[in-house]
Amino acid sequence: MLIKKPKSYELKENKVTDEKIYQDRRSLLKKMGYLGAGTLLSSSAQAGVFDLFSKDEAKTFSTKSLTFAQDKNRDEQILTPENKVNSHNNFYEFGTKKSQPLELSQGFKVDPWQLTISGEVDKPFTLSYDELFSQFPLEERIYRLRCVEAWSMVIPWLGFSLAQLLKKAQPNSRAKYVAFETLYDPKQMPGQKSRRLGGGIKYPYVEGLRIDEAMNPLTLMSVGLYGKTLPPQNGAPIRLVVPWKYGFKSIKSIVGIKLVERMPPTTWNRLAPKEYGFYANVNPEVDHPRWSQASERRITSGGLFARNRIETLPFNGYGEQVADLYKNMNLRKYY
Ligand code: MTE
Repeated sequence: MLIKKPKSYELKENKVTDEKIYQDRRSLLKKMGYLGAGTLLSSSAQAGVFDLFSKDEAKTFSTKSLTFAQDKNRDEQILTPENKVNSHNNFYEFGTKKSQPLELSQGFKVDPWQLTISGEVDKPFTLSYDELFSQFPLEERIYRLRCVEAWSMVIPWLGFSLAQLLKKAQPNSRAKYVAFETLYDPKQMPGQKSRRLGGGIKYPYVEGLRIDEAMNPLTLMSVGLYGKTLPPQNGAPIRLVVPWKYGFKSIKSIVGIKLVERMPPTTWNRLAPKEYGFYANVNPEVDHPRWSQASERRITSGGLFARNRIETLPFNGYGEQVADLYKNMNLRKYY
């Protein structure tokens, strides 16, 4: 087994949870065949993980419902309770209200699935449902997620870096951007056939990154959270997580990743270009035209009126790892 030294961006598990919960979760991860934050699996160990991490088994490895105290000190990050992570969602394909994705996505079929990597690459390929979990070593990453609507969470994701997936396809010199696409299946996704339910979005939902943003080690393809496969409402079976950008960049239920030469269209930019840019880096100094981005409401177990307003940090606190990507850019213009 290859032991990886934790990188500076990885919130250490024992910093985010109390000791008892930390130990419980580590034994759960061990049972599943791998250790989380700070540990990478060798490819020989992966088969074991996949055996346990299949859709049927995943349910039996459920963590108990955990509640955590409020995040009083910005340095001491506290995991958002699992029952908040999977019940307060934005997934307009299943409705625009926060509670609708959980209510309306439970029959969503993720197996069979196909994720195709194509475009300006020498080796295009397609992954099946099983291959999403077995082609790359899975690791746990605890990241802050900051929605453009000014709420935030701290989530333990499972996944692999997008860079590994892209390298396998061997991008050519014309590959300047990466375009992502969500499944289009109005029979299963009621928001795609109803303007009212789907918020007036033109589906499929699409997103994009510049190639250097996509290759940054922080950029994660997630297949799970809290030690289990992703629930449908969080973007099963595979989604993007870009922790230094507003949450709408973290596109869910992806079927297509295409390397392209020109900046691809993105859903929210297309809908309201003055409000949502292509870059969408978390920036407390650039307000949304209709509200301030200087602070955020951290979702905790405390309910709507808990005192959990905290300052928003530039690049959502990941500036040390990503600020260089934008060093000569005017971030007011390229919001
Ligand atoms: N992906 C798709 N396909 N459809 C969506 O509506 N919402 C985005 C993003 N990915 C969205 C999406 C927004 S606005 C946010 S904040 C995050 O997903 C929310 O992720 P979560 O529900 O897992 O917290």
